[in-house]
Amino acid sequence: MSSPSINTVPRPVNVLILAAGLGTRMKSDIAKVLHKLDGRPLIAHVARTAAALQPQKIHVIIGHQAEEVQAAVETEVGKESAGFVQQIEQRGTGDAVLAANDVLAKSNSTILILSGDVPLVRAETLKNLLAAHQSENAACTILTMRMENPTGYGRIVRDDQNAFCKIVEQKDATEEERQIREINSGIYCFDSNNLFDALAEVRPANNQGEYYLTDVAGILKNRNERVSLFAHADVREVSGVNTRAELAEFENLIRRRNVRRLMLDGGVTFIDPSHAYISSEAQIGRDCVIHPGVHIEGASIIGESCEIHQGSRLCNSRLGNRVIVKDHSLIFDSEIADDCSVGPFAHLRMGARMAEHAVVGNFVEVKKSTIGRGTKSMHLTYLGDATIGAKTNIGAGTVTCNYDGKHKHPTIIEDNVRIGSDTMLIAPVTVGKGSVTAAGSVVTEDVPPNTLVAGVPAKVKTKLND
Ligand code: UD1
Ligand code: CA
Repeated sequence: MSSPSINTVPRPVNVLILAAGLGTRMKSDIAKVLHKLDGRPLIAHVARTAAALQPQKIHVIIGHQAEEVQAAVETEVGKESAGFVQQIEQRGTGDAVLAANDVLAKSNSTILILSGDVPLVRAETLKNLLAAHQSENAACTILTMRMENPTGYGRIVRDDQNAFCKIVEQKDATEEERQIREINSGIYCFDSNNLFDALAEVRPANNQGEYYLTDVAGILKNRNERVSLFAHADVREVSGVNTRAELAEFENLIRRRNVRRLMLDGGVTFIDPSHAYISSEAQIGRDCVIHPGVHIEGASIIGESCEIHQGSRLCNSRLGNRVIVKDHSLIFDSEIADDCSVGPFAHLRMGARMAEHAVVGNFVEVKKSTIGRGTKSMHLTYLGDATIGAKTNIGAGTVTCNYDGKHKHPTIIEDNVRIGSDTMLIAPVTVGKGSVTAAGSVVTEDVPPNTLVAGVPAKVKTKLND
């Protein structure tokens, strides 16, 4: 057994995430760790948790769709915190760890191994595991759990003294071993010095012809090194996603948890809690009412007393207080101030902004445009690259013709303007404050303030009073 350390300064921690596998049981062309849970790839969940531990570095073993997996990790934790190692051929979890030999064998650190497909594990649990590993001065500490149905997992085999003996994989287990309910979560701490040394001994002598990381624990045990078991009670937290059915279960669990938290702690009403799809990162204010089939994705922030009606989808958007979103509206990357109304069937995207008391009605699309305070665009309209002032009315069927086939051009509509129904605004163009366009106008030139224009192309008809 390794001698107890003389000083008590804990070794630095390196996290190693295994994420090279395809995940055959997903029956997918997409690597398993890229499948999304709660709107983010599985690997992003694990990477975020790893980062919370503030390790020396996060190392990720990549293989299938390596570039995409690397990008997903870097997006989550930044380029500096993570390093990547290619596992050329996926020959098992032992082989995956061995790929990191050159970067970690001499690190003299504690190596915390995580699976890219175990997304719900909490940083606190991992901290406790690390603390147990370090205080026991173990060569290896395995996070284990007891499962009602352990099918598919590696079983923890104990010896006569009830001490750890070895891990047996499902596919290699005897009938008797399969009865064991204590399983390997695939999360471990290793002393780097022991780990790579023992890995060299692992052989693919099993029913899958793979190099099993799990064999390292048995090898260390045979060398009389200390192998500790760290039992964890929350099974779901340390379960892996192996099939799409499991992925859907996890999604469901997260969703129910989010809705419950918002109801109990946040004072949000859900008309039908089982049909609301709220991301963990979304914030929803008190006294909001969320109707069935509503999706609130990404880091959306919704103020107080808003009502979001059936079938609407909000993504990375911000709503003020008392905003009403009527049925089947789509709001992406947009900002809506207090007391606005949107929809039904409206589409806001790419930085659309509505000032207080603005109204966007049915079948109106607003792209990269600003709508001023109290301005209304009630029906059948496209507003793209437009800046619209306050208290203006945009008639039904108005189109900002912003695209000449090559470039996008801006439209400016100032305060107190009345755009007549079916006006075509050929951008770049400005309509001055207090002006009016008659129904069916095609506005090809700037309209001065307080002027009525009409026709095709629109001509000045009258100067209006202020
Ligand atoms: C593994 C454990 C099993 C444990 C279970 C917990 C082994 C041999 N078995 O089984 O004891 O109960 O996790 O979830 O370790 N990977 C690579 N390269 C490879 C193979 C796998 O990077 O060559 C990655 C996968 O992408 C995945 C992780 O390692 O993220 C686990 O691999 P997986 O095939 O899911 O292992 P299990 O069969 O679940
Ligand atoms: Ca797995």
